Amino acid sequence: MTRTLKLDGIAFGGDYNPEQWPREVWEEDVRLMRKAGVNFITVSVFSWPLLEPEEGRFDFGWLDDVIELLHGAGIAVDLATATATPPAWLIRKYPQILPVTADGTQLEFGSRQAYCFSSPLFREYALRLTRAMAERYGKHPAVRLWHVSNEYGDHVSRCWCPASAIAFRAWLRAKYASIQTLNDSWGTSCWGQHYLDFDAIEPPRESTGPVNSTQRLDFERFSSDAMLELFRSEVAVLRDVTPELPVTTNFMSILHDLDYFAFADAEDLVTDDAYPDPADPGAHVDASLNYALMRGAKGGAPWLLLEQSASAVSWRDVNVPKAPGVMRLDSYQALAHGADGVMYFQWRAARFGPEKFHAAILGHRGEASRTFQECSRLGAELRQLGALKGSRVTADVAMLCDWDSNWALAAPNSLPTNRISWIGQARAWHRAAFNLGVTVDLVRAAADWSAYKVLLVPNLYLATEALAAQLAAYTAAGGTVVIGPFSGVVDENDHVHPGGAPGPLRPLLGIEVDEVWPVPDGETGAVQMEGVPCGIHTVSEWLDAIDARTVATYTNGELNGRPAVTMRHHGRGSAWYLSACFEDAGLQALVRQIFAHSGVLVRVGAGPDIEIVVRRGRRTAFTFVLNRSAMALDVSVPAGAAVLVGDGRSAAGIGSAGGTYLLPARGVLVIEHAHEDTVHLLGEPAQLQSV
Ligand code: GLA
Repeated sequence: MTRTLKLDGIAFGGDYNPEQWPREVWEEDVRLMRKAGVNFITVSVFSWPLLEPEEGRFDFGWLDDVIELLHGAGIAVDLATATATPPAWLIRKYPQILPVTADGTQLEFGSRQAYCFSSPLFREYALRLTRAMAERYGKHPAVRLWHVSNEYGDHVSRCWCPASAIAFRAWLRAKYASIQTLNDSWGTSCWGQHYLDFDAIEPPRESTGPVNSTQRLDFERFSSDAMLELFRSEVAVLRDVTPELPVTTNFMSILHDLDYFAFADAEDLVTDDAYPDPADPGAHVDASLNYALMRGAKGGAPWLLLEQSASAVSWRDVNVPKAPGVMRLDSYQALAHGADGVMYFQWRAARFGPEKFHAAILGHRGEASRTFQECSRLGAELRQLGALKGSRVTADVAMLCDWDSNWALAAPNSLPTNRISWIGQARAWHRAAFNLGVTVDLVRAAADWSAYKVLLVPNLYLATEALAAQLAAYTAAGGTVVIGPFSGVVDENDHVHPGGAPGPLRPLLGIEVDEVWPVPDGETGAVQMEGVPCGIHTVSEWLDAIDARTVATYTNGELNGRPAVTMRHHGRGSAWYLSACFEDAGLQALVRQIFAHSGVLVRVGAGPDIEIVVRRGRRTAFTFVLNRSAMALDVSVPAGAAVLVGDGRSAAGIGSAGGTYLLPARGVLVIEHAHEDTVHLLGEPAQLQSV
């Protein structure tokens, strides 16, 4: 059964916490929500203690009133099941629900989300509340989406308590069936770790030294599965009572700890919470990678930006506000990347609690606050964009995201270098594509890659025979695969492949890695590519190109003269291997060369501050041009196109004949045009403009 979010237009609104305000404020809230163009509001995320003030006694009266108020104003509701935070009475009755860290410390009540996700007691009470919520509100016409829990894995994504230990053992029994298979898979003959029985196994707590890496990897897999199981159990209750209502749980952008592909399979709509740091000039580039995951999680389907900040957050050490225009740019970036809505944490700025300095749509100053002014302007603009809904981003380039490999590589010890991470590599490679104006999708192993010209694999430390065969088949059929350093090293049990790296990728890549050669902290290495020098860092490898062409060569240190980058033709495609982490400039040059080789078009004039993304609908296409630079840009608008969003002054004069649009600094342009037309930049940034 397909369950879609039924909402007129682009979703616009945010988290609303009326329980923090006296009732007389609620009416003003709703009046101002209408003024700001809000059409969708999330409620009851942390309301369990108010909804069930004592065991088994539910008090829905206040939430009834809130939902009626919103409904009366034509505002739809994203209703949280309120299970994100257990109340104090539950914790005091059953303190064993509290989570425990790897060193055995039990975390106390007093913040939020103080529960172990494997606790059967927590689950029992959470499911009872979920059912009560579903029965109470499932038929209410305002309620359009179930918001299960909140940000699984926020605060607590791993728990080492006794309930976790029991659940971990059950998970291991189901996976291995026999203790001998577990012993073999975990390599317990090393360091005398042999187990006689599953009951002897504990979660990988703090120990005397490095803990068995397969045990740790299985614990990562188990923890993600355990949270997924909790999510699924709530979803099952909701499906039972309200089979027609869509369900979501809000993701936290690319989060190492949870396999979001598996979570996306269990929900109807992908939603994301995105908090790019305004103090980081490259944060929007990484945000674009996060959004690639959100669309990739459900095969390109539209998703929702469920939380962003209207300006500063309150949880970094230094919380810099968003400069004027940046929140608007950030919002359009999410829309450009396939979101069908833009929401905020939160509607009204709190007066107390840990988030009292977190920006909100309605700042402490009220209507006069800059955030309210900017958000209201955006709300009005979004009303013009209904046609965008349902359209999809199409990309020529994909990047493979594999949680197993990511988890295996993250063991904080016993690797040739602990400095390499999947996310670090993924961001660097994505940055190279972004700076060339190329949109990248993030895809899982189980996806169909055939529509992509290039598949980037920044790291595949853990490579199975099956995945290697899939990569070879994709390449043989004409794809270009690009694989990064320290790949094909171990199998699914974290055992080194026979013969060493790149293991099952050896026939495809035509290389053999003899030894990993980490670059010491603070040092860099050098590589020469077609006469052009470029820097490398973190890791390099001593490899032999057995059946591959050397594209770049190391030019210093012990690896001097040896291959650094190789390429091998395979069937109708080609397979590239980068044996080092490259500095940005060199990586971009290499990626440009690979794109040229594979027929991927790069955009003239693109760069870190200019982003152009196309969404395709049934009849028309939508091009987003986001200008974060300090200069105005000339953008060519094709004949017959319509400027949906832009700066009013510049829009004047663009008629059906098309023309040139002067997009100011920090400007946003959304153009609807025929599929066959393209929007492009005229040369490099034109004119300096003050911001
Ligand atoms: C997360 C949570 C919200 C809020 C915001 C603050 O996204 O889901 O409840 O705490 O962070 O940025």
